[in-house]
Amino acid sequence: MTTTLTKVPAIEDYFGLSDTELSERIEAARRELGQRLVILGHHYQRDDVIRHADFTGDSFKLSVLAAERPEAEFIVFCGVHFMAESADILSAPHQKVILPDLGAGCSMADMATSEQVEDAWEQLEDIGVIGDFKVLPITYMNSSAAIKAFCGEHGGAVCTSSNAVPLFDKSLKEADNLFFFPDQHLGRNTGFKFGIPTEQMVLWDPAKELGGNTEAQLRGARLILWKGHCSVHGRFRQWHVEQVRREVPGIKVLVHPECIREVVAMSDLNGSTEFIIKTIEAAPAGSKWAVGTEVNLVDRLIKRFPDQHIRLLAPDLCMCATMYRIAPQNLAWALESLVAGEVVNQIVVPEETARWARVALDRMLAIK
Ligand code: 13P
Ligand code: SF4
Repeated sequence: MTTTLTKVPAIEDYFGLSDTELSERIEAARRELGQRLVILGHHYQRDDVIRHADFTGDSFKLSVLAAERPEAEFIVFCGVHFMAESADILSAPHQKVILPDLGAGCSMADMATSEQVEDAWEQLEDIGVIGDFKVLPITYMNSSAAIKAFCGEHGGAVCTSSNAVPLFDKSLKEADNLFFFPDQHLGRNTGFKFGIPTEQMVLWDPAKELGGNTEAQLRGARLILWKGHCSVHGRFRQWHVEQVRREVPGIKVLVHPECIREVVAMSDLNGSTEFIIKTIEAAPAGSKWAVGTEVNLVDRLIKRFPDQHIRLLAPDLCMCATMYRIAPQNLAWALESLVAGEVVNQIVVPEETARWARVALDRMLAIK
């Protein structure tokens, strides 16, 4: 089926369409746009969306892919806002990044604003922690472009769950202290991998003076952790690990490092979404896994590997509601708008922000 649209569609036009119609129209628009289009899909996307992606990946892999596809005029990003921002920063100036639903944010990324980060930095300067010690700001990919720019401008970098270890390794050698935004759990879990004692990992609560710490605590810190978290991964608890091990002897627990410290400490393995997939791909038939990450990914693994016993670590649903906002209706609308000559939902990071954010992202990409 080929559709040459002349009228720019409205999103409402898609609400009544069947799954089959939506799927056929998405594929027809993909064919029509050809090499001008690349669709990137994060592993947490729902089945009826990710099946249309040219490439899938974790947030690191997708950022690399965005930087490596200059032939595509349009990068349609099926993921969340911070990922689309990073794709815009890393792609070439002639490319346009599109997020099919602008409501697809990340509640963890929203837990730190650039104003709060700047205020925290000033407080550390005022008490001389920055000055007496070399502090590097490191931000998780799950943050706004403005925070990435702040890190770039202050000698710091970005990391994802797939390269936090080498990034911390390099940064801890260069600095006395790292200030990590916004995921306390990834920060703490990585800190433990370097043997940093608990008392040298302090939590910065942006609602409190000095983040709720004393000057002495901040002076003694090796890692300052922003008080942010992922509510999806925060639902996995120690009792889930205990229960699944009781119910399925020999089962291995494989979790994302956004889970709380206690869960990661009890797990057998932890890593990014790509790591989780690769681990299961490499496992022999009959392997048993309890996976602590977003349910769409886990359900896909269950279907893909019927010869392995795979289950979600929690007995109840752990879904990222903002990832789920990218529905086939949004994707069909975004693509058919492009066919009709209109770019909808473009993500544009202002150049003054993009310049420094690119510096922080490039420092991450330089890590091997
Ligand atoms: P990955 O980089 O592992 O895909 O994680 C992104 C994310 O948002 C996990 O919640
Ligand atoms: Fe953000 Fe958590 Fe959703 Fe990942 S799973 S996009 S960290 S809210």
